[in-house]
Amino acid sequence: SVGVLCAVAVQAMASRATARPNGQSQASKICQFKLVLLGESAVGKSSLVLRFVKGQFHEYQESTIGVLSAFLTQSVCLDDTTVKFEIWDTAGQERYHSLAPMYYRGAQAAIVVYDIANQETFARAKTWVKELQRQASPNIVIALAGNKADLANKRMVEYEEAQTYADDNSLLFMETSAKTAVNVNDLFLAIAKKLPKNEPQTGSSTPGRNRGVDLHDQTQQSKSQCCSN
Ligand code: GTP
Ligand code: MG
Repeated sequence: SVGVLCAVAVQAMASRATARPNGQSQASKICQFKLVLLGESAVGKSSLVLRFVKGQFHEYQESTIGVLSAFLTQSVCLDDTTVKFEIWDTAGQERYHSLAPMYYRGAQAAIVVYDIANQETFARAKTWVKELQRQASPNIVIALAGNKADLANKRMVEYEEAQTYADDNSLLFMETSAKTAVNVNDLFLAIAKKLPKNEPQTGSSTPGRNRGVDLHDQTQQSKSQCCSN
């Protein structure tokens, strides 16, 4: 079946990956998803990616430059499924805002990040959520991450306020710290659990959406769609 072909192709790619936060590598099904990180500059988007993919943290992480953004991959294992994330980090500086649709278009998941020690970044996160709700794919899984949770003594955004906002907008929500690693793997795992792993093979309005695809064809825009059985 197409799904099996796809799984084999991804497995070949995945075998080059090293770290796997959730251990076991044997899973009967492999699904690949495009995930994008959005949020104000300096909230810690690149740091969250670096923590999740490489287990590292840089105190002096350089600000991401718009045109140099690239994707990294990392997998998490659920019971019988390996969820492989193609992670697109974006540049938070306002002058790069117009590039964002390029990154969230076709994404199945988004992490909108703010800094718990900076109220303005929470307001900015809400405008990102609105933009995603209006312009991204309708089934996109959106997670809100209150990063820099280690800076509790400088907190400006209450946990309850963010949780209520997330509940009202059907978002996943966690406070994270790229610095201490608190909730970083858990956030990606929660997203993996919420992503649809058994999409219907047909019936989608967009050709190529929601279908398992042969990942040998790297030019297909739909290469990051989920593989179905
Ligand atoms: P842009 O690329 O400009 O959009 O910023 P960004 O969102 O990618 O932020 P980045 O990861 O570059 O982090 C900005 C600064 O915050 C860096 O100095 C990081 O070391 C620091 N930082 C990131 N995450 C954390 C965290 O969880 N706790 C603390 N204390 N500092 C953090
Ligand atoms: Mg960055």
